[in-house]
Amino acid sequence: MDLHNKVAVLTGASSGLGSALAKALVQEGVVVYGLARNRDRLTQLREQLGTNFHPVRMNLADRQMLSHWVEDTFSLDYGPDILINNAGVGGFEKIDEMQPDYWLQMVDVNLNGTYFITAQLAALMKQKQGHQHIVNIGSILGTVARSEGAAYCATKFAISGFSEALFKELRFYQIKVTCVNPGSIATDFFASSGITKHAHMLQPDELADTILYVLKTPDNMLINELTVRPLNPKAP
Ligand SMILES: NC(=O)c1ccc[n+]([C@@H]2O[C@H](COP(=O)([O-])OP(=O)(O)OC[C@H]3O[C@@H](n4cnc5c(N)ncnc54)[C@H](OP(=O)(O)O)[C@@H]3O)[C@@H](O)[C@H]2O)c1
Repeated sequence: MDLHNKVAVLTGASSGLGSALAKALVQEGVVVYGLARNRDRLTQLREQLGTNFHPVRMNLADRQMLSHWVEDTFSLDYGPDILINNAGVGGFEKIDEMQPDYWLQMVDVNLNGTYFITAQLAALMKQKQGHQHIVNIGSILGTVARSEGAAYCATKFAISGFSEALFKELRFYQIKVTCVNPGSIATDFFASSGITKHAHMLQPDELADTILYVLKTPDNMLINELTVRPLNPKAP
């Protein structure tokens, strides 16, 4: 896809990988609608990136809010070419110690939010001419599980299945679907999820460049799944 003047919806734009993706996309001439809850961070990005970045304050778990925004912003004449489902929350605790609300939050954002926005935007993308692309940010923990990660792993394994089913369904509408499964990335995720950082994490801007590469592949080429790891996360 030639990215210039394309329209992208990017969830979780306010920090980490999402901010890096917003910057990389705007640099390529993409108009980006960046969704997240943190208004200050979105405003800062707008100041940094200019008018091609549209900050959208959104709680992805709020189906009605999402639905109103999609209806107010897009139509059959103006729809997105790219959807990047990047927003995510993670927490790692023993199954009998984790608060049920924490489980529900992960399911609401990582899984239900991804479903709500994808279902609404896919309806518009299917009507558009030309090729389009949906990228779902999964995790390496959607391919192998870790102890005390039942909730997070359940959502990310689900994203892997969701992505594969979608790629098989939407390919006939010229819509590519890619599931990107990263290993550890140097973002705020580590502070909020309670797991330990290490010295060799992936850098968000480098991963964003790799995702741009996936978006730019020729129309007839689909990378449907991509696992990206730090080369040496731990000492041997
Ligand atoms: N960091 C890692 O090691 C790692 C590894 C593999 C996969 N991932 C995945 O990579 C993606 C990006 O994570 P990150 O590492 O960049 O973490 P991050 O810096 O914590 O960013 C998470 C983003 O999700 C947004 N978000 C959370 N809850 C939301 C909600 N209810 N509504 C809307 N937006 C919400 C946050 O925005 P607000 O708080 O402003 O709403 C933030 O922009 C996630 O899907 C994560 O699971 C991360």
